[in-house]
Amino acid sequence: KKIAIIGVPMDLGQLRRGVDMGPSAIRYAGITDRLEALHYEVEDCGDVEINKTHAVHSENTNLKNLKAVAEASHKLAEKVDNVIEAGSFPLVLGGDHSIAIGTLAGVAKHYSNLGVIWYDAHGDLNTAETSPTGNIHGMPLAVSLGLGHEELTGIYGKSPKVKPENIVIIGARDLDEGEKALIKEKGIKVYTMHEVDRLGMTKVIEETIEYLQEKTDGVHLSLDLDGLDPNDAPGVGTPVIGGISYRESHLAMEMLAESGLITSAEFVEVNPILDEKNKTASVAVALMASLFGSKLL
Ligand code: ARG
Ligand code: MN
Ligand code: MN
Ligand code: MN
Repeated sequence: KKIAIIGVPMDLGQLRRGVDMGPSAIRYAGITDRLEALHYEVEDCGDVEINKTHAVHSENTNLKNLKAVAEASHKLAEKVDNVIEAGSFPLVLGGDHSIAIGTLAGVAKHYSNLGVIWYDAHGDLNTAETSPTGNIHGMPLAVSLGLGHEELTGIYGKSPKVKPENIVIIGARDLDEGEKALIKEKGIKVYTMHEVDRLGMTKVIEETIEYLQEKTDGVHLSLDLDGLDPNDAPGVGTPVIGGISYRESHLAMEMLAESGLITSAEFVEVNPILDEKNKTASVAVALMASLFGSKLL
């Protein structure tokens, strides 16, 4: 099986610089070697180009850097589409979480019932109307549901890219009021930290697999490193205490690997400037290895 790595040095979806170095940090932490050791054929496609000269605040909208994010999303969608077309597994490295708009747009071309696992402290379900910040990294899941600025929802093919009943959010603990309302309105399945604590990660992932297996023809894993506790993953721009542990996250990845459910993945929000000796990128690499079948014995 072939894996194609796509870097997306995007930092325009939020305000803290440095997350554009996430793909470099993850490469430095040894992602290619780790996957090759698991006997995959790994192709590093390099980085999607981000045009920072367009990174000016757009008119008639509170969305920050809308034009530049939309442009990059389109390029990424095209790249992801081509990679799947060529028979490889797309592994996208961020960059802030706004890149999920492009990843999901590219992936959605290939599935009529795409499932999404959103592993994150946040829902990223804001629209221009509900966003407290105007930061597009807080919006990609809403955009993929067809909600938000049409310059984002309209990227690369039909909208919506994913149906609300095909989404599972895991690790949520900082949801804005508008996001809570949307979750209830659409009936989106969410395992907040309350459920993670109460059920345990084993049950959470078993239920997630059962929930998605029958009704989807592919499942994308979008893993925001801030889903983990900041003690385990300090190099993120919007840390929230009380998160998923390193061990629980490995267990989740190992169970997903066993299930064979995941058909594409992205690891986002690694910011080496805010990190401790590249710890968060190393954690990301270790989790990717587990997702691709690495075992302790
Ligand atoms: N809910 C906040 C916002 O919309 C924070 C979003 C954080 N998102 C992320 N991908 N880290 O601005
Ligand atoms: Mn987050
Ligand atoms: Mn908040
Ligand atoms: Mn996120």
